[in-house]
Amino acid sequence: MVWYMNNALGRPQKKKIISRLKAYHGITLASASLTGLPANHKLFDLPLPGFLHVSTPHHYHGARPGESEEDFATRLAQELDDLIVKEGPETVAAFWAEPVMGAGGVIVPPRTYYEKIQAVLKKHDVLFVADEVICGFWRTGNYWGCQTFGIRPDILVCAKALSSSYLPISGVLVNDRVFQGIAEGSSTVGTWGHGFTYSGHPVAAAVAIETLKIYDEIDIGAHVREVGPYMQQRMRERFTGHPLVGEVRGVGLVAALELVEDKAAHRNFDPARKAGPRLLKHGEANGVILRAMVNDSIGFSPPLVITKAEVDEMLDRTAKALDGLAVDLRRESIAAV
Ligand SMILES: Cc1ncc(COP(=O)(O)O)c(C=O)c1O
Repeated sequence: MVWYMNNALGRPQKKKIISRLKAYHGITLASASLTGLPANHKLFDLPLPGFLHVSTPHHYHGARPGESEEDFATRLAQELDDLIVKEGPETVAAFWAEPVMGAGGVIVPPRTYYEKIQAVLKKHDVLFVADEVICGFWRTGNYWGCQTFGIRPDILVCAKALSSSYLPISGVLVNDRVFQGIAEGSSTVGTWGHGFTYSGHPVAAAVAIETLKIYDEIDIGAHVREVGPYMQQRMRERFTGHPLVGEVRGVGLVAALELVEDKAAHRNFDPARKAGPRLLKHGEANGVILRAMVNDSIGFSPPLVITKAEVDEMLDRTAKALDGLAVDLRRESIAAV
């Protein structure tokens, strides 16, 4: 869409797309090029030319000693500005971002990050594409993750909770500026030559419409605004002091615990020890399904209807899993000595 629009607007050079290391946007050639994870690039000859990546906005690992969240955000915005200037603003079309990075480890950006990033994009006439596949539909406590972080996107991509994931459906929303650009192109070319066999499938669309109605009927937004902060607070209270947990992070009903070997140095375990995957086994044994991501980050994304009592139960079970893993790791360390 972005390329089509820029061709239609007579600026065929403006095509490069910038996303971020550890981003996850999918695994087609284009979306995997946007993704910033080695497993999705290595052996697939990706990223394709014209896809660039800037730093992950993760204060815990990325900040310099003593650097505040605000100063870290300023540095990342400067990095983006420098990259756009180096490449030539006339060649850069769009910046792609998940409001909260999901598969990369549930990374909540530092304060003021998006405000500063958007100022850079505006200066260079670069579009903001928000990937709301995880964040959309109340996950972060607002209808869109963009609202939680003050983002005004030009294009917004959504899926998952659009149908509560009962049927596969996704959507792309564009603002008037992008729409007009595309309309211009299609009036010249004669058609919007871009569609799939199952685009606009009526069964999936009916399920999505019903899902959105149910969200309104049960006021799921009010529920998430109540239970989300509770989950965040309880997770911090319970796990910040745990010997295996380096950081507890998240917003609304999405969160992560990051397992570390050295809490003071923010140093992760050697990947060969498989601390994250082994925690999942302990989780299963204790009746909780967790997800291990990059750097042994353990992801939580409970159903939006979860209650406070269920949050407590989920965290009780997680605590047992963590303690089980801690015992295993201690035994191994003793055996190694
Ligand atoms: C933020 C984000 N964007 C895009 C995708 C890709 O979606 P799909 O697997 O349907 O291509 C995912 C999948 O998990 C995602 O989390």
